[in-house]
Amino acid sequence: MSIWDTVNSILAPLLLFMLIWQAYILIFNKGVPNIRTAPAIRRRIIEILQKEYKVHSEKNDKKFKIIDIGCGNGLFTREIAKALPEAEVIGLEWSKAAIEQAKIKSKAQKLTNTHYIRTDFYDYDLKDIDAAVMYLTIYDMGRMGEKLKKELKRNALVTCNRFKLSAGWEPEECLEIKTLYPHQKQLHIYRQKNFHS
Ligand SMILES: C[S@@+](CC[C@H](N)C(=O)[O-])C[C@H]1O[C@@H](n2cnc3c(N)ncnc32)[C@H](O)[C@@H]1O
Repeated sequence: MSIWDTVNSILAPLLLFMLIWQAYILIFNKGVPNIRTAPAIRRRIIEILQKEYKVHSEKNDKKFKIIDIGCGNGLFTREIAKALPEAEVIGLEWSKAAIEQAKIKSKAQKLTNTHYIRTDFYDYDLKDIDAAVMYLTIYDMGRMGEKLKKELKRNALVTCNRFKLSAGWEPEECLEIKTLYPHQKQLHIYRQKNFHS
């Protein structure tokens, strides 16, 4: 067997796999790949949410509502729900396959504080939300920034993995986080302060 035969026997199945994967993304997910937030960043966001919940619950009887904007198969949504059992955690996602998986996994894990909604996240009203987490494409950060400005209540917290919000948002903090994912190492934290009188 020549070296080319060996290369071909590895490359051909790999190319086929990539083609099927891209076709899946195009057909079922409007061309948006479902990449997850790196574990170290997820852990850090959860710590931030726990602190935020503590402050909220000292002043407030209302349920603390967290939203995972573009939740994919809900892995992060479930982790948040487990870490904050008293909070309500909503996952928004347009992929039918991903949201079905999310629902099945939450049920299997007997989580009662997760809710998944299959929708375009731009169509969901964020007015009751206390904290929003997201890992979206750079192309979403302007439109999402405008939406958050209009809809989020005062003092609501926003975390953005990797890309910064545009549309006038200034981060309270930008954290550098070591992860094993080469493209993910920045977390941006925002507070809805400036856009409400
Ligand atoms: C990068 S994944 C993030 C998954 C998860 N939140 C995390 O951080 O691990 C982004 C998800 O947003 C979903 N998405 C992208 N645009 C959307 C839209 N307009 N409405 C609903 N879901 C959308 C994608 O299908 C994908 O599952």
